[in-house]
Amino acid sequence: MQQLKIGFVGGGNMAEAMISGLIAAGHNADAICVMDTNPDRLDALQQQYGIVACSNSVSLQAASDVLLLAVKPQQIDDVLKQFAPVVSDKTVISIAAGISTGRIARILGDDVAVVRVMPNTPCLVGEGMSVLYSKADEMHRTRAEYILASSGQTAWIDEEQQMHAVTAVSGSGPAYFFLLAELMQAAGQSLGLSRELCETLVGQTALGAGRMLTESGKPAELLRQQVTSPGGTTQAALEAMFEGQLPDIVRTAIAAAARRSKELA
Ligand SMILES: NC(=O)c1ccc[n+]([C@@H]2O[C@H](COP(=O)([O-])OP(=O)(O)OC[C@H]3O[C@@H](n4cnc5c(N)ncnc54)[C@H](OP(=O)(O)O)[C@@H]3O)[C@@H](O)[C@H]2O)c1
Repeated sequence: MQQLKIGFVGGGNMAEAMISGLIAAGHNADAICVMDTNPDRLDALQQQYGIVACSNSVSLQAASDVLLLAVKPQQIDDVLKQFAPVVSDKTVISIAAGISTGRIARILGDDVAVVRVMPNTPCLVGEGMSVLYSKADEMHRTRAEYILASSGQTAWIDEEQQMHAVTAVSGSGPAYFFLLAELMQAAGQSLGLSRELCETLVGQTALGAGRMLTESGKPAELLRQQVTSPGGTTQAALEAMFEGQLPDIVRTAIAAAARRSKELA
């Protein structure tokens, strides 16, 4: 797999996260080609990772087993038209939010193997959550799994419609945790702690809680109960959160994100 020829269309933030994960996992840099409209961006990626810069869609396609579409959703139609038709032994992976596999196949050709992925920004630090959907055969699915697993965890869904909920939970999810972090930092400062100390306290608390969630094998509810002594400080805080309707707020917020994902699609 480390020799798999991967062609990135778009060398922005998410592409860089995946390139850096692949290189860290031992992927051959010569097997990664990147095409981007911004030459400075291409130079920077070439300098940092030793990847091959590609100047046009014909040479990128010739040099790739996998085409990884990492442009903004509003740029995707132009890109697809540049690459159509795609031969059927190539794997086309799209990370563009809200763009269905059907829409991609309609432009690239019905036989093309398309894998749709919803990653999230923690891919930038190798801790991403990428959810994949495809009707393509095992070889294409294995290629996609290999690429995304280099920048974090992966999961597959069987119904493409579920991508809206996935987008609302893990795609947008990092922003919800960042908002909570901002609010906790501000609250700590209002109680007299310095900004620097609050940033450290909240960042490390988030990291520790995240590791307990993913490593302890215990559900979130149990972990929460284990921190909460009856009549103690945590219980006082949690009661205030429930009185402020936090569960309703989170349910409504995530439903709004899923609804927006459907509208954009
Ligand atoms: N960021 C997230 O949290 C997140 C999460 C899940 C999915 N995604 C998806 O990931 C995709 C990429 O997002 P991003 O944040 O990495 O975007 P980005 O930083 O804007 O990267 C896109 C890159 O592609 C270049 N580009 C535009 N048109 C091109 C073309 N025709 N050929 C080659 N390169 C072209 C852009 O150049 P210019 O700047 O010159 O246009 C830019 O450098 C999006 O579709 C987004 O929906 C993002």
